[in-house]
Amino acid sequence: VRIGEEVQALPRPGRLSEGNAFTALTTRAEAFRRLVEAFRDLNFDEPAREARLTLCAACGLSPTAMIAAPDERLGQAAARLGEFAVRRADGEPLSKIIGRREFWGLPLFVSRDVLDPRPETETIVEAAVALFAGRRSEPIRVLDLGVGSGALLCALLIEFPAARGLGVDRSEAAAAVARANIEACGLAERAEVRIGDWADGVDGPFDLIVSNPPYVPSGDIANLPREVRDHDPRAALDGGADGLEAFRAILPASAVLLSPDGRLIVEVGAGQARSVLAMAAEAGFRDAAKWRDLAGVERAVAGRSPRRV
Ligand SMILES: C[S@@+](CC[C@H](N)C(=O)[O-])C[C@H]1O[C@@H](n2cnc3c(N)ncnc32)[C@H](O)[C@@H]1O
Repeated sequence: VRIGEEVQALPRPGRLSEGNAFTALTTRAEAFRRLVEAFRDLNFDEPAREARLTLCAACGLSPTAMIAAPDERLGQAAARLGEFAVRRADGEPLSKIIGRREFWGLPLFVSRDVLDPRPETETIVEAAVALFAGRRSEPIRVLDLGVGSGALLCALLIEFPAARGLGVDRSEAAAAVARANIEACGLAERAEVRIGDWADGVDGPFDLIVSNPPYVPSGDIANLPREVRDHDPRAALDGGADGLEAFRAILPASAVLLSPDGRLIVEVGAGQARSVLAMAAEAGFRDAAKWRDLAGVERAVAGRSPRRV
């Protein structure tokens, strides 16, 4: 698209396809207003926030810089904004459009091959920091089963500056994203990522094993919001018939790999904590306990190694 030409939005519902395409001459303030209107028409929960983020991403500006100069024209960013807006209106999460998502304050790369790291997964990092409070500077060994984008592994290695970590994922494409994030966070010396089926072929011991496995019951996937259903990988979501399939593999394998004073922390879906606690007790874990996320949902289960010190 040449500067000054109308950016032709694809035929989609909502105002974005009704001849209100952005041009190089559109001001930022006007673009913002149109985006808010379009996102509001599409019943987005936070149209103004989404509009601001979309506009900032397309223009490559911080929110502060954007607010400081509302009368600037879009210029070359018009084409990008048109594309971003139509993709967002079509249900693609902004993180997947711009390829970035923040987790534990880290600006991570994401792609269609990895689950978007979620704020509720930070519960695992919070639990780890609390459970290992007296051991923050020790060279603990961390295993992340289903490493995905590397979000958990990166956050944990930042919180435990002497720790070393191994991440495992069955998806080669996800492992590549994890490696890129590890490198970008400056953690390459302390972390390794392998392709594998959970803990198969992994040698312990580990002091901390974490996992945010796929836990959505297969039959519920069709009813997920389209941002999730259509844009997160199925392998990151599908937890089998009852949603608990991955825990049946991860819990017994972790019991063998943990050091005697080690801990396992797994994320669970809403309503699954009780079942996973029972599975943990059956696998021999001691002092198994639930952890709530910021919304008050029982989000993680943590337990002590079955082996005694
Ligand atoms: C819910 S995502 C979690 C990603 C990341 N740890 C996070 O918390 O954002 C689950 C990950 O487990 C991986 N996975 C699924 N089945 C697996 C298996 N059998 N062995 C290893 N990884 C698996 C998926 O590819 C996906 O990356």
